[in-house]
Amino acid sequence: MGNQTGSEIEYLARALKAPRIRDSATRLADQAREASWSHEEYLAAVLSREVSAREASGAEIRIRAAGFPARKSIEDFSFDHQPSLRRDTIAHLATGAFLAEAKNVVLLGPPGTGKTHLAIGLGIKAAHAGHRVLFATAVDWVARLQTAHQQGRLALELVKLRRYGLIVVDEVGYIPFEQDAANLFFQLVSSRYEHASLILTSNLAFARWGDVFGDQIVAAAMIDRIVHHADVLTLKGASYRLQYTGIESLPSVRAQNAAQ
Ligand SMILES: Nc1ncnc2c1ncn2[C@@H]1O[C@H](COP(=O)(O)OP(=O)(O)O)[C@@H](O)[C@H]1O
Ligand SMILES: [Mg+2]
Repeated sequence: MGNQTGSEIEYLARALKAPRIRDSATRLADQAREASWSHEEYLAAVLSREVSAREASGAEIRIRAAGFPARKSIEDFSFDHQPSLRRDTIAHLATGAFLAEAKNVVLLGPPGTGKTHLAIGLGIKAAHAGHRVLFATAVDWVARLQTAHQQGRLALELVKLRRYGLIVVDEVGYIPFEQDAANLFFQLVSSRYEHASLILTSNLAFARWGDVFGDQIVAAAMIDRIVHHADVLTLKGASYRLQYTGIESLPSVRAQNAAQ
């Protein structure tokens, strides 16, 4: 490539806000000459590099903005440890098809069975598929909604949150809520109903959510909307965290088993 053409490409790439094109144009031009690509093939190759790079950096930005507590991937999830869970169910969820239909995912099971891991893994997949994602614990969501409510901008906040294709609510049930919190949470669930997806995780079966929310009727109305279009997956077994510790079960697991 001539010097002048090179600097023209550099200028044009910068004007297009695609400075990476400068490098890929030179690199791919050598490859094109060697392999006798047509002009169209060369142009397609340069553009497709730019598009992939943009998609990857967009996904990375969405992953960072999501507020995941850790990076966990579906690929790192061991299905051998969770035999009741079907690989193809998770593989299908990982395609992100549920997001287009505004469907929900509920992950139930005792502590340490991989609920948060799967929620993060699916959230990362959603970010790669182009969806904006927000992750927080149920307690943090309620605090956020309470603040918005106190400032008189709850409706606005709910509209803003609807622009996120996926919201993850982790750890429903660890800490019981006040009744006004239950109402706020109900509003979050109904504002997303049939518009945008939720992933919820909980150590408690639905039957016990009424106690968590301090209101059986609000809890029932909420669960009704959540599960109307949802995959409910129940994880089982001993905590993955405890597998090499020799500890066989946690108090909450025993209490829950006894309650069933
Ligand atoms: N089946 C699994 N395969 C790989 N890692 C797992 C699996 N289940 C749990 N873990 C890991 O064990 C730890 C606890 O899992 P986590 O998802 O936080 O459990 P939960 O949210 O159900 O309490 C995490 O570090 C997670 O990555
Ligand atoms: Mg968890």
